[in-house]
Amino acid sequence: MNIFVPIILMGVLVLITLLLIVVDKLLGGGKEKILMINDEIIIPVKNEDTLLNTLSDQKIYLPSACGGKATCGTCKFRLIDGGGEIKPTELPFLSASEKENGVRLSCQVKVKDDMKIEIPKQLLNAKSYKTKVISIIDQTYDIKLVKFKLISPTRMEFKPGQFAQIVVPGIDIIRAYSIASNPAFPDEIELIIRQVPNGQATTFVHKALRVGDKITLTGPFGDFYLQESSERDMICIAGGSGKAPIRSILYYLKDRGMNRKVKYFFGAKSKRDLYMTEEFEQLQKEFPNFEYIPALSEPLPEDNWTGQTGLITDVVDRNVGDLSESEAYLCGSPGMINACIKVLNKHDIKQHNVFYDKFS
Ligand SMILES: Cc1cc2nc3c(=O)[nH]c(=O)nc-3n(C[C@H](O)[C@H](O)[C@H](O)COP(=O)(O)OP(=O)(O)OC[C@H]3O[C@@H](n4cnc5c(N)ncnc54)[C@H](O)[C@@H]3O)c2cc1C
Ligand code: FES
Repeated sequence: MNIFVPIILMGVLVLITLLLIVVDKLLGGGKEKILMINDEIIIPVKNEDTLLNTLSDQKIYLPSACGGKATCGTCKFRLIDGGGEIKPTELPFLSASEKENGVRLSCQVKVKDDMKIEIPKQLLNAKSYKTKVISIIDQTYDIKLVKFKLISPTRMEFKPGQFAQIVVPGIDIIRAYSIASNPAFPDEIELIIRQVPNGQATTFVHKALRVGDKITLTGPFGDFYLQESSERDMICIAGGSGKAPIRSILYYLKDRGMNRKVKYFFGAKSKRDLYMTEEFEQLQKEFPNFEYIPALSEPLPEDNWTGQTGLITDVVDRNVGDLSESEAYLCGSPGMINACIKVLNKHDIKQHNVFYDKFS
């Protein structure tokens, strides 16, 4: 027998094996896995993708403010079985008790084997919405109010304070934005979007987005929302675009007669950073229970500012008394929120009555 025959046969075998692997990958990457959610939903999975993407393929949307880059920590779920060990990229977002309880980041866990998971029931209500931009209104030099008409589905039922996500067309990145509109109008969603220098999503919104554009939103998400059953006095504190969820909360309270006492502190640098002032002053005129306290940390001489000045933390400190029976709603940068919580603690607020959304 020719000595080359076995070598040729071996070569053919290797080639066929490689071909089979490629075909297998193209057809979905091997064995079927079973993904069980909340002990009630069973999903057969062929691909070996992240849990975040696998769920989104099944129209189950977890929040994912950074689009899966492990920089926001919003895509948490509870792993009951399977899924492998915690990755170093997850560690900065997991507290000791979360690690103990199997909490993980869905953008970092791949569905390689059968998996059993738990996700909050309300997340099963989050959907993907086709929308059309119906207005874009400048509020300041770096903040726009964008209104979206929901086309399909036509209504996003949300709690005042929750957020939605924009899918930026073309680059398909996802970013979170608190809903700034009245929950009584679930067919039109308003977002307040501040330009972040060189930020991908905000540069798109500020420079390229036009009225009439079709945009995909997902939501609603988040556990920062008004405690509707409570009758406690409220302290609201926001800076910059942090006004968005507080506006939605105030619309909700206004529709119900504003029967809770609300003090709303809004921190800005100078007058050019203030916006929607008339809207909140009008609310103050209508409801004696509501007080709007804008404060400037660096007022300019030409601002002729006669209102509160100083860091928002100092302004709050000066203008609140005992908070042991009050609730606080905070929204803005992580630094601002951490500093405000310290001040609220000084006034004896109870930790379980402090609610916040960090725009990180
Ligand atoms: C729950 C939640 C709700 C939010 N709601 C709002 C909202 O109502 N309105 C709003 O304008 N934003 C909101 N944000 C922030 C928003 O999701 C984006 O992070 C922000 O708009 C920047 O996105 P980008 O793609 O333009 O910037 P990226 O391309 O992601 O970032 C560009 C650069 O800017 C830095 N950067 C990112 N975010 C900020 C920031 N906020 N300030 C300064 N530097 C930053 C990054 O570190 C990076 O270096 C929210 C965030 C969360 C998590
Ligand atoms: S999507 Fe941001 S950390 Fe997972």
